[in-house]
Amino acid sequence: MPPTGLRARYDSLTVELDPPFALVDLEAFRSNAQELLRRANDRPIRVASKSVRCRELLTQVLAMPGFSGVMAYSLAEALWLFEEGVTDDLLVGYPTADRGALRALAKDDAALAAITIMVDDVAQLDLVTDALGVGHPKVRVCIELDASWRPLARIGQDWPHVGVRRSPVHTPLDAAALAREVLRRPGFSLVGVMAYEAQIAGLGDAPEGKPLRAAAVRMMQRRSFVELAERRAAAVAAVRALTPLEFVNGGGTGSLERTSTEDAVTELAAGSGLLAPTLFDSYQAFRLRPAALFALPVVRRPASGVATVFGGGYLASGPVGSDRLPTPYLPEGLRLTGTEAAGEVQTPLLGAVADELVVGDRVWFRHAKAGELAERFAQFHLLDSGGLTTVPTYRGEQRCFG
Ligand SMILES: Cc1ncc(COP(=O)(O)O)c(C=O)c1O
Repeated sequence: MPPTGLRARYDSLTVELDPPFALVDLEAFRSNAQELLRRANDRPIRVASKSVRCRELLTQVLAMPGFSGVMAYSLAEALWLFEEGVTDDLLVGYPTADRGALRALAKDDAALAAITIMVDDVAQLDLVTDALGVGHPKVRVCIELDASWRPLARIGQDWPHVGVRRSPVHTPLDAAALAREVLRRPGFSLVGVMAYEAQIAGLGDAPEGKPLRAAAVRMMQRRSFVELAERRAAAVAAVRALTPLEFVNGGGTGSLERTSTEDAVTELAAGSGLLAPTLFDSYQAFRLRPAALFALPVVRRPASGVATVFGGGYLASGPVGSDRLPTPYLPEGLRLTGTEAAGEVQTPLLGAVADELVVGDRVWFRHAKAGELAERFAQFHLLDSGGLTTVPTYRGEQRCFG
């Protein structure tokens, strides 16, 4: 639907709501889910809950064939999702130091069978045993392999380092050594390996108006992919030689078509691509439909060519830059100012189309990241052919996991 049609549709179907509010277009959400599956080449996709943060949406996507299990971002979150019956297959994608959550996990046999924690260091195993006491029940463990690209690692150089700072487990030998240590300890069972290639999956290779950067990113991603595919296969083989694994997880929204070509990877992870925030606009391989929006009301017209809306300063995490700001989406032709950008209590917008706006009209925005919108709004209004339904976000359920 062209943007003018979309704006009229969104405006008319939400006419009873007072902005600010957040809207999820379920047709776009489902179409994005199908696009993720198409790119996944029949590999199951584990849903990255950090990029959704709404139980109802997680439940809806898990009901679609092709999606299976959740990649939670905290152990407390995983325990809650399990208790609420969202899924019985939860991988916590990041290490935990939450002793209370570990104790809750250890008390519940069903949760122990459903939830897998992430480790990349014996210190994390020690912390679990310290929290639970010697002789604790078996905790399911996944080893995280570092997926960053270090072109000179073979000659012992750590620099340059392309990617994120996650696991210290970089080589197949490192992976086998940690696997042996997990297997040696009676309180753990080793069930998986994960490696997340952020420099491919989370970095757009077609930044608008930056052809040189695009070429450099593509070259880096091609090389990094070749290096990682070989190293990941060797690391997985080294661990599998010690114990059978239930799964090997890899990839993210931006890398599905690539990661799914690796035989060593049994499942993928993705979340952002469902809601399609602006940071996922600049990839050559796919186009998604903006599915998560928020509406702000015009409250002032300070001058011609300017309309000021209430609120709006919902910045995304990561390195500070204009790509982390929300983007005015509809009506088309509005932009933030360089001096105020998106403000704590008001956001002035510039553009000729501002003159068509009157106090009380609404402007539709997109967030730069997917899940963080749910930390701003207690509810998501879900728009479908049958109309609107309103569901709580994590925040709306008083769940804040950091
Ligand atoms: C371990 C892991 N897997 C996958 C992803 C991909 O998530 P998304 O598809 O939301 O970008 C992330 C994102 O940070 C991650 O940390």
